[in-house]
Amino acid sequence: MLVSAKEMLTKAKAGHYAVGQFNINNLEWTKAVLLTAQELNSPVILGVSEGAGKYMCGYKTIVGMVNGMLEELNITVPVALHLDHGSYEGAKKCIEAGFSSVMFDGSHYPIEENIEKTKELVSICNEKGLSIEAEVGSIGGEEDGVIGRGECADPDECKQIADLGVTMLAAGIGNIHGKYPANWEGLSFETLDAVQQKTGDMPLVLHGGTGIPEDMIKKAISLGVAKINVNTECQLSFAAATRKYVEAGKDLEGKGFDPRKLLAPGFEAIKATVKEKMELFGSVDKAN
Ligand code: 13P
Repeated sequence: MLVSAKEMLTKAKAGHYAVGQFNINNLEWTKAVLLTAQELNSPVILGVSEGAGKYMCGYKTIVGMVNGMLEELNITVPVALHLDHGSYEGAKKCIEAGFSSVMFDGSHYPIEENIEKTKELVSICNEKGLSIEAEVGSIGGEEDGVIGRGECADPDECKQIADLGVTMLAAGIGNIHGKYPANWEGLSFETLDAVQQKTGDMPLVLHGGTGIPEDMIKKAISLGVAKINVNTECQLSFAAATRKYVEAGKDLEGKGFDPRKLLAPGFEAIKATVKEKMELFGSVDKAN
């Protein structure tokens, strides 16, 4: 059964580790993430962007697929199904479709409007026992065609949003989605520290987990990050493994064109990436 992300993140924050949110794109992705979490006895959050939601034929299809897998694959570790960077309307749709967690990304609204909309969604989620993530300070980079600037959040605004009763808070600290450019200045730990001091026990979320050096990830966790989002890195490892298979001409050997064979190396590559991240984040054996 899908669970809210609240308990797993409260435990992560208190235990100084982070739970990974891995964005899913199709059946292979979902199966790879779930099986790895189960093998490592780790809690996990499946992230679905609105674009990926459309690609996978809508939120109901996804809920059906994920619930089916939890049962058929005997997944017993805590799993949350979470809308990533949701709009106000998208969040409502996911709640209706059976997601156990949503993010409302109101970071592009003026703070007053972000507060008002977040408040309304918080009350719906509380009533239904779902977790809700809010964002302050837009995360840079490109996601689903939306390009943010990668600003640093204002710690006072973070406190205002945290006080609305959200479950977890994403604060921009110079992180961006996708690959980091060579001239990236790194995470602003000063901002993170200030945000944590204002928001106390609130589990903080680090977006743009792809390509952040290990020492920065560890430092971020030590300063209150309890959820780390990873998307691009699984895509890169899936693509590289698939390319290798095709370039080696394996799809032309025997029944190598069978999708179950063609997609197998990419599937294994996602598993390996997820395992590496869970080990780095410290969530292994934290399922109970
Ligand atoms: P990356 O694609 O950079 O890993 O970011 C993922 C993310 O933050 C999803 O919200």
